[in-house]
Amino acid sequence: MAMRFPSDGMEEDEVIRELKIRTREDLTFDSGRILGSMCTSPHPLARRVFEMFIDRNLGDPGLHTGSRRIEKEAVGMLASLLGLEGGYGHIVSGGTEANILAVRDMRNMSDSEKPELVLPRSAHFSFLKASDMLGVRLVWAELRDDYTVDVRDVERKITDDTVGIVGIAGTTGLGVIDDIPALSDLAVDYGLPLHVDAAFGGFVIPFAKALGYDLPDFDFRLRGVSSVTVDPHKMGMVPIPAGGIIFRDKKALDSISVPASYLAGGGVSQATITGTRPGASALATWALIKHLGFSGYVRVVDRVMKLSRWFASRIKLMDGLRLVREPVLNIVSFTSTAMDVGTLGTELRARGWGVSAHRGYIRIVMMPHVRKENLEEFLRDVSLLLAGNASNL
Ligand SMILES: Cc1ncc(COP(=O)(O)O)c(C=O)c1O
Repeated sequence: MAMRFPSDGMEEDEVIRELKIRTREDLTFDSGRILGSMCTSPHPLARRVFEMFIDRNLGDPGLHTGSRRIEKEAVGMLASLLGLEGGYGHIVSGGTEANILAVRDMRNMSDSEKPELVLPRSAHFSFLKASDMLGVRLVWAELRDDYTVDVRDVERKITDDTVGIVGIAGTTGLGVIDDIPALSDLAVDYGLPLHVDAAFGGFVIPFAKALGYDLPDFDFRLRGVSSVTVDPHKMGMVPIPAGGIIFRDKKALDSISVPASYLAGGGVSQATITGTRPGASALATWALIKHLGFSGYVRVVDRVMKLSRWFASRIKLMDGLRLVREPVLNIVSFTSTAMDVGTLGTELRARGWGVSAHRGYIRIVMMPHVRKENLEEFLRDVSLLLAGNASNL
């Protein structure tokens, strides 16, 4: 339907009423029916802070110097969570922008004329965008049976044109963590930067480790790691948009900075893809980290990790379903031995569940908004669909 720009305005109440009606068809996180997203209902404090400071623009940091300092502190706290004193980076629009910035840095720091990036087959599609925009060829490394990247294949794929290596700490599909210590050794041996995409895992792994889960190192504690993506708007429970990119060295940030001279707050340089960008995201990130602290996030992660293991045990008991692999983080993926998974996914969506069926499995991301009763109801629907499918055979 073609929309016309209205000649006269509507009353505020009327606008809100219409929006409420029109968005009724949206799935909300509060309903507990979104099971396949890495986003969640933002924490009330982060929501409040976001609204309070909604007009701050970190694209013109000279105007909002207090906010810029707070962004630096937020980056510093994220770096410290990831084992680094100091650290350089930004709160950006999401994991996609963070990954693009990391690839841009690796390309700019190299003198190859045909830059290549070696990355796992399981990498997020944001690297396809990075490749397209930056003219960096993607060289895919194969996965092992446990769905982590085959480090020997990564090594085989390194050439004189390789500008960097990517490892993933919490893959999008299965939540597995690559052998980052081995990738770090490789990066050191070959003198290459290693970027770790911990967009999801960065706000899970440190807390899960503190709870006693046996997980590999994945961050700046490893010498070869030069940058990490870590997203506050995923398990950090900060409102969208809030991604994070952290570099070990200042020269990385310098390599992607351009002069930004006309700004009202005075000329500075800018490293982010976006120009005008929400200071509220950085402030909300800072506020929630300050409020919850390490122990607060440990409690959040404790609950979702336990729920994931409970859910995995239920899947194992159900006829016609099979776990793709034991969960590593708070993502549980399963497939069906009794029914086409694509059809199962479509039927579940038709019943109002927000799940995706891709690569032959359905993936449940146990975000903080997901409750046990939602999962019980979900499993009842899965059983009904499997039974219905069996009677159709
Ligand atoms: C591992 C990983 N990296 C990057 C991204 C991209 O993040 P965003 O959607 O915030 O741009 C995702 C999104 O799910 C992800 O799972």
